[in-house]
Amino acid sequence: MKNYAFLMAILATLVSCGQGSGTGDGASSGGDLKMIDLVTTQDGSPLKIDAAMFDTPAAKEFIATGKNPYVGKADDIKEGKKKFNLFSCQACHGGAAEGAVGPSLQGPNFKYAKNATNKGMFETIWHGTNGGMGAKGLGLMQPDNPAEGLRPDDVLKVIAFIRSNGTMTGNE
Ligand code: HEC
Repeated sequence: MKNYAFLMAILATLVSCGQGSGTGDGASSGGDLKMIDLVTTQDGSPLKIDAAMFDTPAAKEFIATGKNPYVGKADDIKEGKKKFNLFSCQACHGGAAEGAVGPSLQGPNFKYAKNATNKGMFETIWHGTNGGMGAKGLGLMQPDNPAEGLRPDDVLKVIAFIRSNGTMTGNE
């Protein structure tokens, strides 16, 4: 007495249906730090600086926009002058950046035209040139002593001092 029809009916009810569990990945980018591209004055190759080094409001503004908010600000110019002397810039460029062994930095004419902008001058001071201007950026100034050199915020103050001796702001 085999009732295959009955068995088949039972089996037919054993239908499993898997539940799809696909979900969208919903990835979204934070986009919190927009950085301009810096290039070396030597050959225009990319100049990489750790984003964490831009650790003041002015430095953050600079790396986002290329503008130097310290230009024209008396207190920051004063700070910049101290660093300009401390890092021996004045020995080669003169106390008012008027030129000595090294060229005048007052503008409007520069050996490297990009130094008319604060972005360009930042790149030159940070990474140097091939013609006698050494890199002054933190970690680059003395390769065997990574603690030596100007921080990005210091470079901006030094530039503010340099601009205070000429007629250009570098932010135009
Ligand atoms: C040992 C001397 C020396 C010291 C110290 C020095 N510089 Fe220079 N700097 C030079 C020379 C030489 C040049 C020209 C470089 C070239 O022709 O490539 C130059 C070029 C420059 C330029 C580009 C000028 C242009 O016309 O394009 C800037 C900007 C500059 N120096 C800023 C500074 C600052 C800021 C400091 C201090 C943090 C400094 N330099 C320290 C010798 C020096």
